[in-house]
Amino acid sequence: MIKWPFRKKTTAETPSATIIRLDEIDSTNNYLHLHAPQTEAWMTVVTAEFQTSGRGQGTHTWESKPAENLLFSVLTHPVMVPVRSQFLLSEAGALALKEVLDGYTDGITLKWPNDVYWNDRKLSGTLIETSIGGGHIKNCIFGIGLNVNQRTFESDAPNPVSLAQILGHDIDRELLLKQIVAAFEKYYRMLENGQYNAISALYHEALYRRKGAYTYEDGDGRFEATIVEVGDDGLLVLRDGDGRFREYEFREVKFVL
Ligand code: BTN
Repeated sequence: MIKWPFRKKTTAETPSATIIRLDEIDSTNNYLHLHAPQTEAWMTVVTAEFQTSGRGQGTHTWESKPAENLLFSVLTHPVMVPVRSQFLLSEAGALALKEVLDGYTDGITLKWPNDVYWNDRKLSGTLIETSIGGGHIKNCIFGIGLNVNQRTFESDAPNPVSLAQILGHDIDRELLLKQIVAAFEKYYRMLENGQYNAISALYHEALYRRKGAYTYEDGDGRFEATIVEVGDDGLLVLRDGDGRFREYEFREVKFVL
């Protein structure tokens, strides 16, 4: 039986994440969906060496060779985050990834809504799934695929890159995972402490194409625009060459690379 809210205030004794390690699973997000109702843990991380049905955004799959990358999902119970501001969870998770990856290489940005980019190439993708109950966010599953040591990509993903391709050597995946979990804890605590403006400001600073005009494409065709902001609701606001504001939900607009 789940009792919630689980935790009203962060204290010095806040427990750190529980990490579950699996060799193979269909999808780490699916694993947590199955187990979420049984856990009251503050933060549960499940990581797998291989996924037989790794899920990407929409109908996409997520390609990852066995034991070369990081495939993991983080389950939290962010009942303190207002449902209307749930994009903050996306921002916090993306910032955690960026903070760690900045320690490995220059050129890391966050492509709206939550891809991690190295220059114009995708280093990491995220699949966030939340469940709402009684007006609160009961569960948030933040699933991350981070390309670490894989050097060739066979799927039709348009522009993948791995840390090993960037750095020219293999990376210790265990250490990287520990660093990322610690960063997740840090940013999640910021959410618990209500530091919403700080998270949003950091996210905006980290955005891919934060400054300048670039080409985008929506249902009506291509246009040049600059990013104005990402709203609390996660909508992307662009301003086109005619000065017109255009607002988009995820997948309504494409960044033309
Ligand atoms: C994207 O399409 O960019 C999102 C990819 C998310 C992939 C990760 S891998 C770990 C977790 N489990 C899944 O099935 N998907 C996410």
